[in-house]
Amino acid sequence: MSKKYNFYAGPAILPHEVMKKAQDELLDYKGIGLSIMEISHRSKDFDEVMVAAETKIRALLGVPENYSVLFLQGGATTQFGMIPMNLLKDGKADYVNTGAWAKKAIKEAKLFGTVNIAGSSEDSNFSYIPKNLNLSSDAAYLHVISNETIGGIQWQNFPDTGSVPLIADMSSDIFSRELDISKFGLIYAGAQKNMGPAGVTLVIIRNDLVENSADNLTSMLSYKVQVEKKSVLNTPPCFAIYIVKLVMEWLEQNGGISAIEATNKEKAKLLYEAIDNYPMYKGTANVEDRSKMNVTFRLTSEELASKFIKEATATGLIGLKGHRSVGGCRASIYNAMPVTGVKELVKFMEKFEQENG
Ligand SMILES: Cc1ncc(COP(=O)(O)O)c(C=O)c1O
Repeated sequence: MSKKYNFYAGPAILPHEVMKKAQDELLDYKGIGLSIMEISHRSKDFDEVMVAAETKIRALLGVPENYSVLFLQGGATTQFGMIPMNLLKDGKADYVNTGAWAKKAIKEAKLFGTVNIAGSSEDSNFSYIPKNLNLSSDAAYLHVISNETIGGIQWQNFPDTGSVPLIADMSSDIFSRELDISKFGLIYAGAQKNMGPAGVTLVIIRNDLVENSADNLTSMLSYKVQVEKKSVLNTPPCFAIYIVKLVMEWLEQNGGISAIEATNKEKAKLLYEAIDNYPMYKGTANVEDRSKMNVTFRLTSEELASKFIKEATATGLIGLKGHRSVGGCRASIYNAMPVTGVKELVKFMEKFEQENG
């Protein structure tokens, strides 16, 4: 198989070492004679996987004791509804509208209470993170999308919300940079970018929010029930959780979050420098809000962008097409993308510029 670099936004690249380990253990997990996929979710072996995944997540992110870690289903999209269902209780919440994902979260929240748009960058096609927020002192929470996967903008510093809980969708940048979890009331992320395969959603929630959440909700969508049942109310996505555990081990073995953050900065710098240096490319995000995970750019015409994507694909640089709603190009350079992959892309950009500029 010729070497391919996967720049898809998600499901995304996974570390090669993780795939290899999963392959080695696929048919016989640690000598038990069965696959991890075909044993009970209540067995000792699977329970150990789940405990290890949670322990490693807690250690890597420095999750304080007074937070619960949940492995849920239904993707981040289910959290768009589950958060207001549990925490809004017909009250008011602040949302920052930074793009496609924020809009979806806002739409769901409106089903359960009043939404105050505390800031929006819709006026400039979501090319920046709004800075002067109109926060409500009586909000149940403030919701932000930590990294807008489609627009390629990312919060570099999170707003100070005082006693109002800050909630962040970190689907596309969790584990990519150091965080002070105690600044957040709730963090959530679908696994399929920086954490594992699709099918499991990580939720980290402060326990007082769980205690004060709504009662009488359907069990699957109740934080209280999910915390009480330790994420095994029903059959969890066992294989996906097992891969999450392997990805956490890979992070540990590679120096943890601070090391991956340094590599992520290096990769983003290489790519943005190429975009800024070659006249054929133009970054679409406001420079100070540029995402270090999803690098969005345009070429001088959409025709040229199509040619760029086609030729890049032929050389093994896969998944560079921008999201269908915005066009252009997008290179997703999550944790598992090696620096060499970004260097290959930069080399290709230079060559393409020379041949077509
Ligand atoms: C920032 C963000 N939020 C939410 C979602 C939706 O996630 P899911 O497909 O897990 O529901 C995505 C998917 O790409 C995303 O990038």
